[in-house]
Amino acid sequence: MRIDRFKVEEWFNKYECKAKYDLADTCIDSMSLNDLLKLAEMTDIAEILDKKLTYGEIQGSARLKSAISSLYLNQTPENITLTHGAIGANQLVFLSLVESGDEVISILPAYQQHYSIPESIGANVKRLFLKPENNWLPDIDELKKLVTNKTKLITLINPNNPTGAVIEDDLMKEIISAANGAYILVDEVYRGIVRENKYNTTSIADLYEKGISTSSLSKGFSLAGLRVGWAAGNKDIIKEINHQRQYNTISVSQIDDYFASIAIENKDKIFKRNIEKVKEGYEVLSEWINSEPHISCILPNGGTTAFLGYDMKISSYELCKKLLSDTGVLFLPGETLELDGFLRIGYCNDSDKLKTGLKKFSEWMDYIS
Ligand SMILES: Cc1ncc(COP(=O)(O)O)c(C=O)c1O
Repeated sequence: MRIDRFKVEEWFNKYECKAKYDLADTCIDSMSLNDLLKLAEMTDIAEILDKKLTYGEIQGSARLKSAISSLYLNQTPENITLTHGAIGANQLVFLSLVESGDEVISILPAYQQHYSIPESIGANVKRLFLKPENNWLPDIDELKKLVTNKTKLITLINPNNPTGAVIEDDLMKEIISAANGAYILVDEVYRGIVRENKYNTTSIADLYEKGISTSSLSKGFSLAGLRVGWAAGNKDIIKEINHQRQYNTISVSQIDDYFASIAIENKDKIFKRNIEKVKEGYEVLSEWINSEPHISCILPNGGTTAFLGYDMKISSYELCKKLLSDTGVLFLPGETLELDGFLRIGYCNDSDKLKTGLKKFSEWMDYIS
């Protein structure tokens, strides 16, 4: 299967280790196992230390699947299958539902899997670009024009990476009715990471019979090192995914499964910790944006990233490379997400680093413009 280069991952592989001020990362201040156990008030993990490291329950432990189903309104463990991260879940959904010649509508900017994988399968992928003038939200009329009776799947991310825009339930219902019976895949890795309660959304799996939700522990739970993700959807869809899954997953590590269960069972504590960090980062980011003449931005309502427009006549790749070598500040170029003239910032990590990095970026922009 020939597939395009994954531009975001290539960028990180090449430049992340060179950054002094990494303002590109999408995680929220990752936790250690000690942090997790402390938060969960657990001192005894003998049960996992004594466990024989077989493949474990092939489709994931009943405990973990039950914990995951608690993140949804109507999904039972039978509606869930475990994967290697959300990246594994997205891939399995595309491989399960999309065939060569199918029509897929992908809403961009997005994580590249959402267009490059269906393209690699031979689907006719129609790209619908979000626009800042519409607050980075999908235009339903535009979507309706793209949908035909051949549309098999619509795919999007909510809250969006990179813009941080949140599609609230009413708008999502309009997307569902515009879909005309097509499947809708919503990558929900950032669901629940919102700066105000009103931006908490219902999962697509609970809103729509043909909706598939993918997610993981990487973002909202600050545990990207536990390579646990999942897909949730109706039982027929999960059956199809499991058929593909036999070929590339077998099972998720029993160790990861164990700690993932603990994390989700302590969701409220972890989310409380993380929402505080999101709010702290948002304060720093919004204050800086309001006082920075070279930058424009629709402030994010959810997720961990924002998309910064800049006024300098330089491509985003060139800007990011020069900025990194001059100052040690790292952003993600918009070109890796098919939109030049923008930079993605991840603002939910270390807020001191964020402040210093943004100050250095402002000084650098004053100097070069
Ligand atoms: C929108 C989106 N989906 C999926 C992934 C992959 O996440 P995971 O670590 O769960 O595989 C990422 C990672 O950055 C992401 O931003």
